[in-house]
Amino acid sequence: MDFFPHRHLLGIKGLNERDITGLLDLADEAVKISRQREKKTSTLRGLTQINLFFEASTRTQSSFELAGKRLGADVMNMSVGNSSVKKGETLIDTAMTLNAMHPDVLVVRHSSAGAAALLAQKVSCSVINAGDGQHEHPTQALLDALTIRRAKGKLSRIIVAICGDVLHSRVARSNILLLNQMGARVRVVAPATLLPSGIAEMGAEVYHSMEEGLKDADVVMMLRLQRERMAGAFVPSVREYFRYYGLDAEKLKAAKEDALVMHPGPMNRGVEIASEIADGPQSVIEQQVEMGVAVRMAVMEALLVSQHQGGLNNQGYGA
Ligand code: NCD
Repeated sequence: MDFFPHRHLLGIKGLNERDITGLLDLADEAVKISRQREKKTSTLRGLTQINLFFEASTRTQSSFELAGKRLGADVMNMSVGNSSVKKGETLIDTAMTLNAMHPDVLVVRHSSAGAAALLAQKVSCSVINAGDGQHEHPTQALLDALTIRRAKGKLSRIIVAICGDVLHSRVARSNILLLNQMGARVRVVAPATLLPSGIAEMGAEVYHSMEEGLKDADVVMMLRLQRERMAGAFVPSVREYFRYYGLDAEKLKAAKEDALVMHPGPMNRGVEIASEIADGPQSVIEQQVEMGVAVRMAVMEALLVSQHQGGLNNQGYGA
């Protein structure tokens, strides 16, 4: 990739088709590196990456850690949920303390929307949003796009049905933005209680029935029912939810025969997806995990290498 004109990755919003295609092309190269016996390169040698996670995460944090290590960076993990924050330190104080140690990239996950953008204004390094509240999770949307593009050969004009707890999902928001930008057709399938207002304006066709929403879909993307973010009664019962919105063999029949089944993880088996489907022939859930490392390598390379080559718009975007 010759030039990536951003200093931070705060969301899919702000990226154009060229930016996204460039990242996915770079990620295709990173997949090859991860499949070699020798997986370490010197692309980011000498640079320091700090993963600052205010929310528990296994897969995203380990994916960013491996991505940095494969690029040759020094990687430090900070899970803040159990340290200074409990002593009353604020998000900004924690970030400024780390900033004084001269990191080159800060990967941030936080339960508040806008946390990554706020940090990007305060620190002197690149910031990558690894999930901010119910707002965005850009590397998840990029890894989903990479998985789809490698299986279907394209993103334009495919039909993607995003199903389940759209209301609480930053994954859904980032995916809707990315897929629209790339010319895909996006549907959301959920009960009305699990859809945010204004979803149609974001460019998604709304369905309340799996049979209709999955009809002729090329991709069926299931979302986790985020019970930890639910204050009231959004669904009558888990059994009832599975009956109407859980992906099983019967419901999947409505989609195209070669439709991909995706899930960002962690999965609630038997709640939003049946085990036989999660482990079945159409599932690309494990490929998504593999593509996650590659996409994060691509994002860090794009942000940090073009920055050090100069010519960068130092305002970044979203700032
Ligand atoms: C997602 C997240 O944290 O937003 N998971 C992830 O990144 N591995 C989706 C989810 O929690 O359901």
